[in-house]
Amino acid sequence: MTGRAFPAEMAKKGARPPVGTKGAADWYWKRYTELYPKYFWADDTKLADIVVASAKGSLLYDVEGKEYIDLTSQWATNNLGNVHPEILKATVDALERYGFLILFMNPHLPMIDVAERLLSIRPSNNLTRVFLELSGTGAAEGAVKHAIEASGRPLILSFMGQYHGLSIGATAFGTLASRMRRNWEAFSGGAVHAPYPMTYRKPKGMTDDQFGEWCLGFLEDQILRYVAYPDRIGGAIFEPVALEAGVWIPPKNFVRGLRKLADEHGWFFIADEVEAGLGRTGKMWGIEHFDVAPDLVSIGKALGGGLMPLGAVLGNDRSMGKDDVVAGTTFGGHPAACVAATVTIDIMRRDRIPERAARVGGKALKRVKEWEDLSIVGETRGLGLAIGVEIVSDKGTKARDNDTAREVFFDCVRGGVIPLYDYEMNVLRIQPPLTIEESLLDKALDGMESALRKHSR
Ligand SMILES: Cc1ncc(COP(=O)(O)O)c(C=O)c1O
Repeated sequence: MTGRAFPAEMAKKGARPPVGTKGAADWYWKRYTELYPKYFWADDTKLADIVVASAKGSLLYDVEGKEYIDLTSQWATNNLGNVHPEILKATVDALERYGFLILFMNPHLPMIDVAERLLSIRPSNNLTRVFLELSGTGAAEGAVKHAIEASGRPLILSFMGQYHGLSIGATAFGTLASRMRRNWEAFSGGAVHAPYPMTYRKPKGMTDDQFGEWCLGFLEDQILRYVAYPDRIGGAIFEPVALEAGVWIPPKNFVRGLRKLADEHGWFFIADEVEAGLGRTGKMWGIEHFDVAPDLVSIGKALGGGLMPLGAVLGNDRSMGKDDVVAGTTFGGHPAACVAATVTIDIMRRDRIPERAARVGGKALKRVKEWEDLSIVGETRGLGLAIGVEIVSDKGTKARDNDTAREVFFDCVRGGVIPLYDYEMNVLRIQPPLTIEESLLDKALDGMESALRKHSR
């Protein structure tokens, strides 16, 4: 990337070369490679290691004009594609009209509109109230806070492998990896963890349903007997589809059994829909795949239309009936974010986005399933446009192969495709905007397939 110098006289003046002009790519690349590691914490996976000049829909363009297909939807925030024109316009209008209003002092009309829209798409009719936050982490924590305060009980039940954010609170009850809790173990006092029924790694000889039963049994017979007395637990926070863990889809009987246990013991059932919600899994909400009514639902990411940060919690009267729950944050419920979310929900309904995700994702999964013939692919699985490709070094032992996953990831990026991939994980994910053109998705799958083949024996 070196050799072509940006004109010295411009560099001296400190000017930035317009992208696309001679020498500009080198100039930006140099700036990025020199200054990024100097100013920011850096690990060596982040990033696709490209210098993005612009984004649109399902595509990113780097400073050299190279095109990348974004299979991450920027970590499930751009469910309607990046820089959606209708959401952008409504957001800018709202910024011009309101600037910022803090909802603790000046509750505003956009927050009422977004509450109305959210309740109009609620997964179950028992949900009647709304709490607004800034992020998915804030929403997950907000839901837990409501469960603990409304129940008057100190403990929260969570499931191993789930992810709820990286704040100290969410780190305590989210358990994506012990690595993420390293140094923060002492803050985990209020969380009790049970196994998530991750069916690919179930004991040999069991069916998925039997494994679901086994996990419920372990929770009842072991955890509630030896670890936490059931009437000390205020709520169970559950990811109906655990995406960060690598697209884990639980058996139905487990989710229904958990609902039953929650009823029996007076726990609030919290569905964390921050990533699975808003159409990602082919239904508006992940929990809808299981015919279970949650008491609280945490929402984030795609809610702000990919342009504004917004988190929300939906709750029933019992969980949100108390008026003195201590939760919230200054910028939570920003008026322009509420407007962005309202328009996002309107577009999702108008364009039947969850249905599209189900159709396009179903077709993609059919093709991806064929990759299970490759030596490094242990399993592929998915719901809607959330598809996981589990990379293993040995199909018999199912040993996770993080190193190969990472090499495949970088090969994909070099080929112009960015799968969703996280440090120290062995699952590559396909989570593009739900609006991705089918031909573009096909092209991206071609790219992933050739990278997977290159590393297969
Ligand atoms: C299920 C779930 N909950 C909570 C969060 C945290 O959201 P955020 O990072 O936007 O705060 C995430 C993020 O990936 C998530 O997947």
